[in-house]
Amino acid sequence: MGVDRITGEAQKITAKISAHYVDNARNLPWRMPPKLSAGGKLPDPYHVWMSEVMLQQTTVAAVIAYFQKFTQRWPTVADLAAADEADVLAAWAGLGYYARARNLHRCARYVTDELRGIFPSEESELLKLPGVGAYTAAAIAAIAFGQRAVVVDANIERLVARIFTIDTPFPTGKADIRVGMGALTPQHGAGDFAQACMDIGAGICSAKAPKCEICPVQGHCAAYVRGDQERYPVKPPKKIKPLRRARFFWIEQDEKLLLVTRPAKGMLGSMRALPDDNWAAGTDGHGQSPLDGKWRIHENIVQHSFTHFSLEVDLAVYQSEKIVINKRDNNKTKLDDALWWPIAGIEDAGLPTLYAKVVRWVVKQKMKDLI
Ligand code: ADE
Repeated sequence: MGVDRITGEAQKITAKISAHYVDNARNLPWRMPPKLSAGGKLPDPYHVWMSEVMLQQTTVAAVIAYFQKFTQRWPTVADLAAADEADVLAAWAGLGYYARARNLHRCARYVTDELRGIFPSEESELLKLPGVGAYTAAAIAAIAFGQRAVVVDANIERLVARIFTIDTPFPTGKADIRVGMGALTPQHGAGDFAQACMDIGAGICSAKAPKCEICPVQGHCAAYVRGDQERYPVKPPKKIKPLRRARFFWIEQDEKLLLVTRPAKGMLGSMRALPDDNWAAGTDGHGQSPLDGKWRIHENIVQHSFTHFSLEVDLAVYQSEKIVINKRDNNKTKLDDALWWPIAGIEDAGLPTLYAKVVRWVVKQKMKDLI
């Protein structure tokens, strides 16, 4: 069904979406306002690339502050390439999906060292960059270089699936939606057109209770006519996530907290963290503590959702007076690269959200004298 509905109407739809963008574009720090881009001015590819990597799996609202922080601290791709990976990872803390941060840094080095600091403009060349997949390559080519590339993110998927009532379930439905977006994408101004669709998808054509009364393409939307907008896009039923369990260890001395740097490979690789019981190895943790002594266990203090599983965290708080870390005995302790971090400055440690939640829990307990 769906794709068959793509008719000569496409041009009208495109014109209405583009006109709507001129007056309603969100003012975002990585964008060129449509009045300027219409005159041929395009945004800085470094900004477009960075924003698109950050926006993979993360909302615009969450990204804005990180984008500003990164571009102030590292104004050019060469500045980012020259940074230490640990600083980039710490600055990324809280955005999640940390492989993106490692790829961001790797890509900055590649562009600086191999491409003389110049981002490629072709989708096929962009695809070769670390951390740049089909979506990101299309978005950078269209937005930063004015190429005609077909950009499909989750907001665009929803909008296009509804306009054309594409009801082939995912993942096949994605190919039909791409055909639909391909029919709508103009020869010139594909970047602004994609961003116009993103804005409508985010602000009007929302997953629940879409605001069809203010939609510029209401009159062209097959789902609106049928009154079943929320049915689209048609996705397979959600898999239930397995629930796993971890134990973290709180070891504190003289108002400093013992942190470790996680192994480079694996979940949250190279990030600073609390010591744990090796929960990330693919199953629940083994519960064993890294130090001999007395521990007080607080069960299930924090829950966290990852893409493929949920995690419940128990916290073991070290009770013994004297803390002796035998760094040579690292089979037992795994604390050979431990560092003491002042608790008053813990925000600067760059802890991933999972660990930041635990720190927040402890700070709250302390305020109530419960710990
Ligand atoms: N999501 C991904 N890229 C975006 C962009 N350029 N503008 C708004 N939302 C986005």
